[in-house]
Amino acid sequence: MNSFIELQNIAKTYQTQDSQVELFDNINVTIEQGKATAIVGASGAGKSTLLLICAGLEQQSTGNVRYVSKGESRSIVQLKQNSGFIFQQFHLLPELNALQNVALPLKLRGDKHAEKNALCWLENVGLGARAKHKPNQLSGGEQQRVAIARSLSTQPEFIFADEPTGNLDEATAATITDLLFDLIHENQTGLVMVTHNTELALRCDNRLNLKQGSLNNYPVEELAYA
Ligand SMILES: Nc1ncnc2c1ncn2[C@@H]1O[C@H](COP(=O)(O)OP(=O)(O)OP(=O)(O)O)[C@@H](O)[C@H]1O
Ligand SMILES: [Mg+2]
Repeated sequence: MNSFIELQNIAKTYQTQDSQVELFDNINVTIEQGKATAIVGASGAGKSTLLLICAGLEQQSTGNVRYVSKGESRSIVQLKQNSGFIFQQFHLLPELNALQNVALPLKLRGDKHAEKNALCWLENVGLGARAKHKPNQLSGGEQQRVAIARSLSTQPEFIFADEPTGNLDEATAATITDLLFDLIHENQTGLVMVTHNTELALRCDNRLNLKQGSLNNYPVEELAYA
């Protein structure tokens, strides 16, 4: 039975010193494991904030995030334990080599074979030979492959990605995208991805457009001719 995340009547408002920023309200959407969902929208629309709320990493102002795994309601803490993250800036730890970066979340959950499993994941992304290299010895695309290996190494139900190819050239972005989609299909992982890239959005099963505080399905035709 596939897991899902249900956003119920979600609103988010930021209170700053002298003003209130109302990002969105009344958002209702279900994110399913095994499906890829793209979140598109203009800069500043609130995409990253919505992604963090989906992942249980940012508190909504009102509404409820419901997480159901194996047929039962689970806590947001459990959602975080069953999730992986990929960011535009890769976010690898600079002092750790590729293997140690991938092994870290495994070690944190007490995996006695963390390094062995991490090496398997590095091999899955084609970087077995670069295990001992630190992030500054790797190209941007290679660093993102390490980040993908790290996000999938704990075999999460969901991966949350914020513009994962935003810092990469077109050819590298295409390679990374192929790799990511192959791996999520193989592992039946749910993907929620913020992207400005039309081709990437078209590869997802669902597209959601965040515009003027509302979230709506984005028809493929509209995107194709955007
Ligand atoms: N902690 C905060 N306090 C106040 N305002 C914030 C905070 N975090 C984000 N915002 C504001 O919320 C709005 C949406 O931010 P968000 O990063 O979610 O947008 P985005 O759609 O991801 O934009 P981009 O495409 O540029 O990444 C922005 O106007 C931002 O300034
Ligand atoms: Mg953003």
